[in-house]
Amino acid sequence: LSTKEVDLSAVPVGQAIKVMWQGKPVFIRHRTPEEISEAEATPIANLKDAIARNDNVSAKDEATDTARVTDSLGVARPEWLVLVGVCTHLGCIPLGTSAGENRGDYNGWFCPCHGSHYDVSGRIRKGPAPENLIVPPYQFVSDSVVKIG
Ligand code: FES
Repeated sequence: LSTKEVDLSAVPVGQAIKVMWQGKPVFIRHRTPEEISEAEATPIANLKDAIARNDNVSAKDEATDTARVTDSLGVARPEWLVLVGVCTHLGCIPLGTSAGENRGDYNGWFCPCHGSHYDVSGRIRKGPAPENLIVPPYQFVSDSVVKIG
């Protein structure tokens, strides 16, 4: 199993980066306080997929925002959202990571292939994708360095 360490100290609040891990894009977003509040306030009942889809928590855990930002050490860091950048519909790479890209109707990511909208927690909210974007195994090895894998 390959792991990858990423230094996040240069990623400003409100911006995101894309890195490659095991041949797949991984999105890491430095969320604003407003984005965190919005994600935390979303009722589970409003979600299309109510499962966390986070490799670091139980497969049965609900898709609360806290469950989406918890790492393999069990630590939740709401300011950092880490996602596998592969649409759960048919595998396109959603837009919304680079500045100026369409973030969709829920200020998260938008998949242009067939119109799936993900929210600021990477949860599917509208369109044909059946599941939330997957959160890969990761842990913070310091306040600014994350190890993926
Ligand atoms: Fe993303 Fe179809 S592959 S909406």
